[in-house]
Amino acid sequence: MKLENIRAIVTGAASGIGRQFALQLARSGASLVAVDIDSDGLRSLAREGQGAPGRLLTAQVDVTREDEVKAAVEDALAQLEGLDTLVNCAGILRDGLLVAPEEEWVRKLPTAQWKAVIDTNLTGPYLMAREVAAAMLRHRVRPGLIVNVSSVTSKGNPGQSNYSASKAGLDALTRTWGLELAPHGIRVAGIAPGLTDTPMLATMSSEQRERLLAQVPLGRVGTTEEIWLALEFIIRCDYFTARVIDIDGGATF
Ligand SMILES: NC(=O)c1ccc[n+]([C@@H]2O[C@H](COP(=O)([O-])OP(=O)(O)OC[C@H]3O[C@@H](n4cnc5c(N)ncnc54)[C@H](O)[C@@H]3O)[C@@H](O)[C@H]2O)c1
Repeated sequence: MKLENIRAIVTGAASGIGRQFALQLARSGASLVAVDIDSDGLRSLAREGQGAPGRLLTAQVDVTREDEVKAAVEDALAQLEGLDTLVNCAGILRDGLLVAPEEEWVRKLPTAQWKAVIDTNLTGPYLMAREVAAAMLRHRVRPGLIVNVSSVTSKGNPGQSNYSASKAGLDALTRTWGLELAPHGIRVAGIAPGLTDTPMLATMSSEQRERLLAQVPLGRVGTTEEIWLALEFIIRCDYFTARVIDIDGGATF
């Protein structure tokens, strides 16, 4: 696919990796709707994207809400006069051990903390992909592309039961949807970043961050510009599907 021709939705676009994706796409001449729950972040994104050769529209959407997702996909279709690409980047961290001994009792991971991460990082991408893929089939769009932003910690990481499980689930969906949708001309790919310099990283405990950084052979966190290179490759390479790219400085976690 040609970067400058794509018509995309990017979720989680108000901050970090999603914001970088939205700006790079607009600078490449693509048309997109940048989606997020953070309206202030979307406003500042729209300001930053002004003057780019592409078209950068914004929409406040909670990807965990089926009604909002359905409306957002219909709106994007109408505004962009078509839709061939979805980038699922919205995600949250709510770290905690499964159980931890305190003096007189055992602290347990709260169910609400488990559900918040699964809803945002797994159910959100599922709802978005289902609605976008349905629209692609309805409008006979070919080629189409769905990209899921996973994490290197999908392989399991202490303190991240909810997050690791959500990203492992997302990788399974990338492979499953890649196989299901290939006959319809729709590719599905994943990007699994390691530690990347974004506002999300700042919310991680310093112990967790230092522990993970110690396992990165290149000895530093990645940048959002470096993660963008993976998305650019996926868009351009029409032979890439049902696979996840690790981009993590060689991390061993
Ligand atoms: N930063 C890292 O080190 C790192 C590493 C691996 C994977 N990732 C993944 O990359 C993606 C982007 O992370 P980031 O570091 O840029 O984080 P970030 O916190 O900077 O950005 C995430 C964005 O998602 C939005 N969001 C959260 N819940 C949402 C919802 N329900 N609906 C719509 N938008 C919602 C937030 O408002 C925010 O703008 C996430 O999926 C994350 O899991 C990040």
